[in-house]
Amino acid sequence: MPAAVYDASAEGYVRFVGVEISAATEGPVDRSLLGAFVELMADAPAGRVADLGCGPGRVAAFLAAHEFDVFGVDVSGVMVVAARNALEQGKLTALPIADASLAGAVCWYSIIYTPPEHLDDVCLELSRVLAPGGYLLVAFQAGQGEGVHQANAHGTNLPLTSYRHDPEVVIRTLSGTGLKVHLRAVREPQFTHESSPQAFIIARAEPCQP
Ligand SMILES: C[S@@+](CC[C@H](N)C(=O)[O-])C[C@H]1O[C@@H](n2cnc3c(N)ncnc32)[C@H](O)[C@@H]1O
Repeated sequence: MPAAVYDASAEGYVRFVGVEISAATEGPVDRSLLGAFVELMADAPAGRVADLGCGPGRVAAFLAAHEFDVFGVDVSGVMVVAARNALEQGKLTALPIADASLAGAVCWYSIIYTPPEHLDDVCLELSRVLAPGGYLLVAFQAGQGEGVHQANAHGTNLPLTSYRHDPEVVIRTLSGTGLKVHLRAVREPQFTHESSPQAFIIARAEPCQP
């Protein structure tokens, strides 16, 4: 269970990734896509932007620095306490967020614990909370949907399985909820902590017709 692992390892995780998006953990492509998301959001409706599966709120801090009204959601109560932005505890499959209320959302390496067979539940929920014209950015390790099991995840002695999603499956699942995919990108691993390609998808909720 990610909640138990991240509750138990929050301090070490924050030591590892820090509290900000930085060149130590995000490559130039990753950071440029976060920048692209910010620019695309000029076209989004007014409203709040959510960092979903926010951990210590690094993406929330990045977006807040760009003047967005940001909040985060995470299943780990300890992470929620560790983060500096206004955060709420909640699951990607049952977000504590009203229908069509978000101008934008980012899932930065948070769908990685969702088994492929449950991706549709998460994508439906993401589609539910985005306002018409709102943007979504998703980042994850890419593969063929295989699970990577750790018996001692993050040194907690707790088991945890993450999944390397097939980007085409994520794209198909997001599209199936009515979101329109704007960008798909896969880059090769470049950090020692990366053992697979990294995928990035930007999708948009259909804007209202004028
Ligand atoms: C790899 S960390 C990434 C955290 C943050 N996005 C970052 O880049 O620093 C994954 C985060 O997703 C959260 N998470 C995993 N599954 C979740 C779910 N189903 N609902 C909400 N949060 C989830 C974990 O608690 C953890 O904080």
